[in-house]
Amino acid sequence: MQIIKTKEELRRVVDTCKSGRKTIGLVPTMGALHEGHASLVRRAVSENNVCVVSVFVNPTQFNNKEDLALYPRDLQRDAELLASLGTHFVFAPSPEEMYTAEEVNRTFAFDFGGLDKVMEGKMRPGHFNGVVQVVSRLFYLVRPDRAYFGEKDFQQLAIIRFMVDRSALAGTFGNLRIVGCPIVREASGLALSSRNERLNEEEKATAVAISRTLKDSLNWAKTQTVKEVKKMVTDTINSVEGLETEYYEIVDKTTLLPTDTFDNAIGCVTVYCGKVRLIDNIQY
Ligand code: PAF
Repeated sequence: MQIIKTKEELRRVVDTCKSGRKTIGLVPTMGALHEGHASLVRRAVSENNVCVVSVFVNPTQFNNKEDLALYPRDLQRDAELLASLGTHFVFAPSPEEMYTAEEVNRTFAFDFGGLDKVMEGKMRPGHFNGVVQVVSRLFYLVRPDRAYFGEKDFQQLAIIRFMVDRSALAGTFGNLRIVGCPIVREASGLALSSRNERLNEEEKATAVAISRTLKDSLNWAKTQTVKEVKKMVTDTINSVEGLETEYYEIVDKTTLLPTDTFDNAIGCVTVYCGKVRLIDNIQY
């Protein structure tokens, strides 16, 4: 496995793969890798000739400077895991390699057809512009055949699909296919997240109530309305000491707009467990 730090070197490697007609699978990450990322990498390795994993804590998607500073970083540990999974190339650039001083501060404003106006987009203004800014740059650099994203960040996945579909006519990203992969959970049900590293043991045990409540809501949905289920989920999570729901929305999986039926619906939740902001979702 080769660790690449510059765009120049990455371009050379990609050119060699392309001239050898090798398919490329890209897994974009911000490091602090866990079994959820590993599942994406395994899939990318098995479905492509070459697997590229990017490890880059993208400053432009953080609207909270403290969150950016606290984001866990350990390239050596990540590289060991990636090598064991059969990754061919790790792209781990510095912020200066990815952005000019002007770019890192510029507010991009992409049109996501309203997908970014709800839930995470509403709570974290500019977040998805930053995500798409880096992801589109990675797509230009790596020119992947497939790119892999977890369904835990369901809204991010929907927005990236939208961006790629929009550019399809222009052929911007070739025949790139976006592959969504299921959430990976601990045995307790807690959705894996790099942020879990910031939970202490007690908080980790408390946070289990989030996935347990979402799972229970599948049963509630059999007899209750969307409005009632929303209230039950929010009240149940908030009744647990140490948990505070920021939002729980039941939305249409395609438009991400609030829905009043359970057809094609997904429930997305954001919960503060102490100071750590956790997200999870459930498909009805
Ligand atoms: O999901 C993430 O880890 C990030 O948002 C991504 C897609 C790697 C872009 O920085």
